Amino acid sequence: MPLIGQFTPPGDKSISHRLVLFPILGEGEMLVTGLSDCEDVASSLKVFRELGGWAEEGLDGLRIRGLSRAIQEGKDYELDCGNSGTTMRLLSGILAGIPGDYVLDGDPQLRRRPMERVAEPLRQMGAKVGTLAGKPPLGISGAILSPIDYAMKGASAQLKGAVLLAGLSAKDGPTTVTEPAMTRTHTERLLSHFGAHVASDGLRHTVYPGTLQLGGSFPCPADPSGAAFFLCMAAVIPNSDITAKNMLLAPGRTGFLRALERMGAKVSVTMSSDTPEPIGDVTVSYQGRLRATEVLASDVPSLIDEIPILALAATQAEGTTVFRKVDELRIKETDRLMSIRHQLGALGARVWIEGDDLHINGPTSFIIPASLDSGGDHRLAMTLTLALVAAGAKTPILGDDSIPISYPGFHRDLSLLWKEG
Ligand code: S3P
Repeated sequence: MPLIGQFTPPGDKSISHRLVLFPILGEGEMLVTGLSDCEDVASSLKVFRELGGWAEEGLDGLRIRGLSRAIQEGKDYELDCGNSGTTMRLLSGILAGIPGDYVLDGDPQLRRRPMERVAEPLRQMGAKVGTLAGKPPLGISGAILSPIDYAMKGASAQLKGAVLLAGLSAKDGPTTVTEPAMTRTHTERLLSHFGAHVASDGLRHTVYPGTLQLGGSFPCPADPSGAAFFLCMAAVIPNSDITAKNMLLAPGRTGFLRALERMGAKVSVTMSSDTPEPIGDVTVSYQGRLRATEVLASDVPSLIDEIPILALAATQAEGTTVFRKVDELRIKETDRLMSIRHQLGALGARVWIEGDDLHINGPTSFIIPASLDSGGDHRLAMTLTLALVAAGAKTPILGDDSIPISYPGFHRDLSLLWKEG
């Protein structure tokens, strides 16, 4: 059965996190429409409220008021970031510059993720940051910070964001962060939208101290990382033709569309607005069997979260697809590199790892195992669900209750597009 029709994916998760965390450093009030309803963003919103922030959900969206850094001192804050690495890392940068004592913790999956990368520059700026052998829980004593000029070792938008957010609270002088490869630009764009003085020169980003100014309304675009699940499958399943409405089109997020085009899929984009982020409708239609492609290391940040579903598409493409230098996948919600290899392997796909490169040779007709295991990783769970739907199988997937972490309406959208779903 083909995938046919139109759908609006949930609000973009990366932007939604920023819209509910940045007000800690802001004043004024704004209305956010289209915010993601996923569990990760709910973690950010809960933390914002626990710190004393005011936000009220209404029929028109979320009204949120700037907290102006007015966090009550002398109180010990224990903040639960749930499963969300973005919450923990961005929040670290925000709280490092606000006097007070904070403990940031999360669920067992988040407790396995590396936090030293964020702790190190924040310590250099003058905050006290403790980790448990480099992992959560994180103890932060916020302080008056000094600006730094920091060269990141690995490409991470969360780390870039944490340093820039801390820089907003530095005593005086600009804070600069240089990344080794371009990552998503939402922090820089949103800080600038909210009145901060930010300048980017290629991979170098500089922020000056200040307070964000909230006002008016902010429509959150739909999430390309959610849309990708269905758009990639439309490129694989004969006669499919689907449109994701109102989707974020930031180049740092749409590497998967460029990969699909190289693989031979037909991708059409109708742009509807360009500020504060580019937005439009994206249609993917089946054009025949896909061909393999090579994803270069420099392109990986622009499709990092889409690798599981692109890997599934690659199992159906002619030839060997290679994703170069994808070692960051080892430290996502699970070791995604291993999960992709084992779970697509269990379906009979030819998947192997050489060094830090992921190789997939197709096309493959799936054999259906007795069960599959997402390891409680939402992106794996959605990928495996679609693999089974396309194969017409009803095999159980362990840990698929993780899907609402990023896409609560996934099954609703699946049955909307997959008429027999
Ligand atoms: C995100 C950045 C990426 C991405 C994550 C969201 C963000 O992580 O994988 O899902 O919102 O900044 P890294 O910064 O670890 O690359």
